[in-house]
Amino acid sequence: MIRPALETETDELVTLAEGTKVFKPLELAALRELLDDLHHGTSSDAGHRAVSLERDGRPVGFAYFAPTPMTDRTWHLYWIFVAKGTQARGLGTELMRFVEAEIAAAGGRLLLVETSGLPTYDLTRRFYVKHGYEQTAHIRDFYSDGDDQIVFRKRLNK
Ligand SMILES: CC(C)(COP(=O)(O)OP(=O)(O)OC[C@H]1O[C@@H](n2cnc3c(N)ncnc32)[C@H](O)[C@@H]1OP(=O)(O)O)[C@@H](O)C(=O)NCCC(=O)NCCS
Repeated sequence: MIRPALETETDELVTLAEGTKVFKPLELAALRELLDDLHHGTSSDAGHRAVSLERDGRPVGFAYFAPTPMTDRTWHLYWIFVAKGTQARGLGTELMRFVEAEIAAAGGRLLLVETSGLPTYDLTRRFYVKHGYEQTAHIRDFYSDGDDQIVFRKRLNK
C-alpha cells in the first residue's frame, strides 16, 4: 500500500534513508526538515506530497514530489528510497509508477530527478534509465568537488 507519510513515522523514515548508506548526514537532516515542514508548515499548500510504501504495517519505501515553482507544470521528484533489505524487489518501481501516475493525474507535464554522479549512485541512475528517464544535464562538482549532479527528465503529458 502506498499512502501519505505520517508525522509519527518521520524518525523511522530518516532511519530507513540512513540505512541505504547513500545519503550524507546533511541530506538526512534536510529530509527531516522537509517532513517537519510538510506536517507543520505551508509546503503542503504548495502541492508537496510525501508518500510511504507500507509492507506489514511498516514503511519500507518513501517518495517526496512537488510542482516546481515558476514553471508550467514541471515537477521534481526530490526523494525516493527503499529500505536496504528490500531493494531490487520491485518496490522502487511501484513507488515510481505511483508518483508518475499522481503527477500525470494532476496535469504534470515534465518530471525531473536530480542525483549524484558518484559510483555509489550507479544503480540509482540505472533505475531512472530503466524507467524511461533521459539524462538532460550534468553539472560538475555540484554537490562538492568531485561529486557531480546528474539531472534526468521524463515527459508525462504532452
Ligand atoms: C533506487 C531505488 C529507489 C530503486 O528501488 P528498488 O526497489 O531497489 O528497485 P526495483 O527493484 O524497482 O528495480 C530494480 C532496478 O533498479 C536498479 N537498481 C537500483 N538500485 C538497485 C539495487 N540496490 N539493487 C539492484 N538494482 C537496483 C537496477 O537497474 C534494477 O534493475 P536491473 O537489475 O534489471 O538492472 C532503491 O534501490 C534505493 O532506495 N536506493 C538507494 C537510495 C537512492 O539511491 N535513492 C535515490 C536518490 S536520487
